[in-house]
Amino acid sequence: MAPSDIALRDRLIVALDLPGVDAAEAMVARLGDSVTFYKVGYQLAFAGGLPLVRKLADQGKKVFLDLKLHDIGNTVARGVESIVKLAPTFLTVHAYPQTMKAAVEARAGSGLKILAVTVLTSYDDDDLHSAGYRFGVSDLVEARAQQAQALGVDGLVCSPGEAADMRKTVGHQMRLVTPGVRPSGSASGDQKRIMTPARAIAAGADHLVIGRPIMEAADPEAVVESVLAEIAPVPVS
Ligand code: C5P
Repeated sequence: MAPSDIALRDRLIVALDLPGVDAAEAMVARLGDSVTFYKVGYQLAFAGGLPLVRKLADQGKKVFLDLKLHDIGNTVARGVESIVKLAPTFLTVHAYPQTMKAAVEARAGSGLKILAVTVLTSYDDDDLHSAGYRFGVSDLVEARAQQAQALGVDGLVCSPGEAADMRKTVGHQMRLVTPGVRPSGSASGDQKRIMTPARAIAAGADHLVIGRPIMEAADPEAVVESVLAEIAPVPVS
């Protein structure tokens, strides 16, 4: 699917970063038809939220299951086979070749798309060197994006600041999904390299992940609609 074919509402992925299934279901009910795509990450998944992935899919919602898998290939493959039964649209894995290869092979024939996390956005060059890497962040991001594409991975998670470079590296064959997005006027929280929704889409992002500015809003649906109104006129290639 070309980036321009993505429905406007599917461009916003709302992170259900909430402590339990009841709170998550209440938020989903509150947001109603305004949100078509949710992210379930560690907090909710490990608080009983995995069955909710299937339930949301059965309700016609798309789900990004953000579990950032990384293990030996056989374990990743068996895990992905189980995850396919939950019917999410996206699943994250760390961008290690064995892990990416196993995940891509195991999801074959399903509707699941695999997204690779190249380098965690909280890492800088010093963090990588202390973890034993020879590369700095930008070289490693670039190398891993190329490996991901060669292995048939469907998309990349990247910061909005990396999106333009990633688009040049991988062209339009891969989905780019960016957290670190803040609607104009909202608090940045612990996000450091933030961008507004319109700038992130203009930089080449296909999907924006936004959590706290929506979860913590007095009127979450109003924030959703203002994000969509902001990105609607941005031309996508
Ligand atoms: O900051 P916010 O609440 O909008 O974050 C939404 C989601 O994006 C969180 O679930 C978090 O895991 C993810 N995130 C990320 N990389 C970052 C910042 C946030 O993947 N640098």
